[in-house]
Amino acid sequence: MSRLVFSLQIMGEITDVKSIGVFDSGVGGLTVAAAIKKILPNEKIIYLGDLLHLPYGSKSEEAILEFTTAAVDFLTGQDIKILVIACNTSTSVALEYVRSMVEIPVIGVINPGAERAIKVTNTKRVGVIGTRRTIESGAYRREIESFDRDVKVFQKATPILVPLIEEGWKDHPVMDQVLKEYLGEFKDIEVDTVVLGCTHYPLIKDKIKRIMGSASVIDSAETTAERVKEVLASSGNLSNNKPDVDYLIYLTDYTKSFEELAEVIIGRGTKKIEIVSLKYNRGKIEYNLM
Ligand code: DGL
Repeated sequence: MSRLVFSLQIMGEITDVKSIGVFDSGVGGLTVAAAIKKILPNEKIIYLGDLLHLPYGSKSEEAILEFTTAAVDFLTGQDIKILVIACNTSTSVALEYVRSMVEIPVIGVINPGAERAIKVTNTKRVGVIGTRRTIESGAYRREIESFDRDVKVFQKATPILVPLIEEGWKDHPVMDQVLKEYLGEFKDIEVDTVVLGCTHYPLIKDKIKRIMGSASVIDSAETTAERVKEVLASSGNLSNNKPDVDYLIYLTDYTKSFEELAEVIIGRGTKKIEIVSLKYNRGKIEYNLM
């Protein structure tokens, strides 16, 4: 044991000084990071937002795999003890590959939300909304069915929601109109649970709840944060000391709208932003053309 860790343990102050790595295509993953900070305020988050390639939701699986691999290489080069793939799209395409790449625990956002949906549904009729790529991957359906084959999963791609939120229109009347259009189908087929399968949707959770009435709405940012806590606690890797900064944010590009939305999501948490250039060393993307 190093002298520093030993002396900190004698003082009874610290068990782990490493950070939690969180990856997303852009700003939305901060909803997951903020949910983690809410229940683990002593943890430092090292966040990577791949703004250069945002949005992932409409990109090919091949491109998402390439971008995610480069991001994971970067984050695992930082001092992190666990990696959270906060992006639903990236989780749906690349989670297993990322797990095979790294030695530390890797948490995706899909399994925790799917598990919660199974616990809360009474009628076994679950709706999932997400980006086109997430929905087309069928990852939520597979995950939910792996818990309970009898659950009927209804999936709906809702691609207009991310741009509206990014535009700062989460409270605009247009948002209500779009949500009513998207969610009307779920009401007609009487799902009793709706999973928010995208990083941005926790920001419009109240509106979705209002439209869905008595249905349960599963916030995958919260369920993922709880999973992170369980994993760190069970391995004795929780931090007990306040970090120097709450969020160390690396971005592959910078936009003012990132910072504006980041403020809304992380509130009073302290943050430091740095711009990075990632290495895409898998080389040329190989596409499966039709
Ligand atoms: N982070 C993405 C997700 O959760 C939404 C934004 C994007 O399309 O990149 O699926």
